[in-house]
Amino acid sequence: MRIITFVFVFLISQMSLHAGEGMWLPLFLKQLNEAEMQSMGMKLTAEDIYSVNKGSLKDAIVHFGGFCTGEVISNQGLVLTNHHCGYGQIQSHSTLENNYLEDGFWAADKGKELSNPGLFVTFIVRIEDVSDAILKGTEGAANAKARQSIIDKNIDAAKKSMELGKFEDVLIRPFFEGNQYFMFTTQTFKDIRLVGAPPSSIGKFGADTDNWEWPRHTGDFALFRIYANKDNNPAEYSEDNIPYTPRHFLPVSLDGVAEDDFTMVFGFPGRTREYLPSFAVEQVVDVLNPAKIDIRTKALEIIDGAMREDAQVKIQYASKQARIANAWKKWIGESQGLQKTGALEKKRMLESEFLKRVNAKPEWKQKYGSLLNDFERLYKEVRPYALTRDYFNEIAGRNIELMRLVNALSRVAKADSMDEGLQGRVANYLENFYKDYRPEIDKKVFASLMEVYFNKVDGNYISDYAKERVEDAGKNYTDLAEKIYSKSIFTRGDELITMVKKDPDNAIKTIREDIAFQFGRGLSEAYYDSSEKEYTRINDELKELQRTYMKALMEVFPEQRFYPDANSTMRVTYGQVKGYEPRDGVRYQPVTYLDGVLEKYKPGDYEFDVPIKLRKLHAGKDYGQYADETGKVPVCFLGSNHTTGGNSGSPAIDAHGNLIGLNFDRVWEGTMSDLNYDASICRNIMVDVRYILFIVDKYAGATHLVEEMKLVRPKRFSKVNPKKGIPIPKEKLKLKKN
Ligand code: ARG
Ligand code: GLU
Repeated sequence: MRIITFVFVFLISQMSLHAGEGMWLPLFLKQLNEAEMQSMGMKLTAEDIYSVNKGSLKDAIVHFGGFCTGEVISNQGLVLTNHHCGYGQIQSHSTLENNYLEDGFWAADKGKELSNPGLFVTFIVRIEDVSDAILKGTEGAANAKARQSIIDKNIDAAKKSMELGKFEDVLIRPFFEGNQYFMFTTQTFKDIRLVGAPPSSIGKFGADTDNWEWPRHTGDFALFRIYANKDNNPAEYSEDNIPYTPRHFLPVSLDGVAEDDFTMVFGFPGRTREYLPSFAVEQVVDVLNPAKIDIRTKALEIIDGAMREDAQVKIQYASKQARIANAWKKWIGESQGLQKTGALEKKRMLESEFLKRVNAKPEWKQKYGSLLNDFERLYKEVRPYALTRDYFNEIAGRNIELMRLVNALSRVAKADSMDEGLQGRVANYLENFYKDYRPEIDKKVFASLMEVYFNKVDGNYISDYAKERVEDAGKNYTDLAEKIYSKSIFTRGDELITMVKKDPDNAIKTIREDIAFQFGRGLSEAYYDSSEKEYTRINDELKELQRTYMKALMEVFPEQRFYPDANSTMRVTYGQVKGYEPRDGVRYQPVTYLDGVLEKYKPGDYEFDVPIKLRKLHAGKDYGQYADETGKVPVCFLGSNHTTGGNSGSPAIDAHGNLIGLNFDRVWEGTMSDLNYDASICRNIMVDVRYILFIVDKYAGATHLVEEMKLVRPKRFSKVNPKKGIPIPKEKLKLKKN
């Protein structure tokens, strides 16, 4: 009996959430999280965080451009986000003379702030549970397709019946694998101007070597401003627009954090899959990640080699290399983390408890008894198609630039002719493409990756044209690449661009008949006609199964709290400032300092150079009010908050609702939190807001921006003298200790 109880308690503790896990809907904080958050030190109520009736924290949070998060930090619409989120905008304003990426940019006053066509930020006005309305009539649906069409109709009807404010939009999104639906009323602003950005040597310090890594020393931030019309409403860009007055903005704390302090991250996480069965996670670890990692390792070897040899190539390929390396490094960390934390065993343990409970209740047994077997069967069935899909996407879709170009031009090739608009867009696209294109590098990537493709992908899914070219080359992929790259017009950018501009009809014909185009289109068409169809068929079944499984989990484990997977909607996650042990014998501290920037300093290096002004400030300890109580300037810190891509730019908020940091990354060992969060090694990385203020004020001299903010010191008088019970200033406490 004792043993059984023990096993049960152990199981439950394995399954229960750890402080830190979860991306919660702001709407349900009161029911699900408030008590726990307060027990962890939070001094706010759920209403302070999310309220429809009064200004709350949520009114300071924006979805930035649809891919990152930002937060309002002044009553004049000043928005803080990451340097890597504003990178495209900073780049677009940069020229050789005014290279803002290289040197940074600081608008001397509001008149000098730079507009960014196409950039927008979205506020959430309110969130409502519309599950009943959206799922009405789906109970008896014959199959998944019929169910979806009822849902689509219900969504249309719900949207039409909404009474929206003049500047409001509405989004309805599935949650819990389509078992629930929530409606988001939003307000989108389109006049967003660039206010300030540090040089890349601060904003991107450590670049790819440090990406996903701790200890970290990156000042990954940029400042923008929201402009509104004179009634404070959204408007297209106009000189007459004025800075937006928000319903709420975040005060900025100068007091920083200590280990175990409460932290909360508010933002728009993109995508997680926390409720997959063990069979799916096993496939990721054993089959899919290794294939994708192998492909990118091969591509990166070639690109890295070329970048080392030639400074010009280094510039041209820096951002492409970063894009390839970002996911590559994340997958490696993800696979290792899943293995190290025993994710599969945990999933299997949960599944066996699930089965035990299901089998004990006839009603459940009938509904859910075969779920896990069905999963097992379908994951086995989908395996070759899922793998082929990754090979196709990674090789024919992504990492060979020539194949990307073919895909981009496939619409043009279908056109009868080009009107002026299309001609301009194509020429533009091509000019951008060729600016940073080196066919001699891409040719090597092509040879290396196509060899993988033809060896790994079933010949039935490959076009005859492509197979013939491979035969012609005697299955020598270097020769194949040589033939294609020497014949294709796509390796002669100037010629192609001139043709598009001067003789567009001929350009269409030339593209269509081009050897690289035919090779690439052939690969795509053959793939989409065969393997992808099978993949979609099985995957549709899997999605339906996953929906039932999610529903079953919630029913069978009623003692559990469930949070929905990330889907680019607004979420709150909370945890504590925490270090971690990445491997045996190593413990990471949760805070880094400016001293560490100087430790990493490599003069002239493209990743680790440090601007002279920053070195001087450090040498003179000219830190203003931004040093901590030990006299050092903190740079980054770690927390156990559960974040993912899309949380970049999210505010880190203290127990009182003040801004303490800016989220921008996770630690490599913990990137498996997208599939299975584990409190022992999953950490998010934030820039300390004091480093941001230090750079804005002391480095850039943009003191007017700091003056616009509301600086607070919530900790200074919060230490209580145990004898007298009267708060005494922290400085005095320190004096006594010394
Ligand atoms: N790893 C972070 C993310 O996933 C930062 C990426 C940008 N920085 C870089 N060095 N590539 O978005
Ligand atoms: N860098 C990521 C982003 O751009 C955040 C890091 C993560 O994936 O957690 O959203």
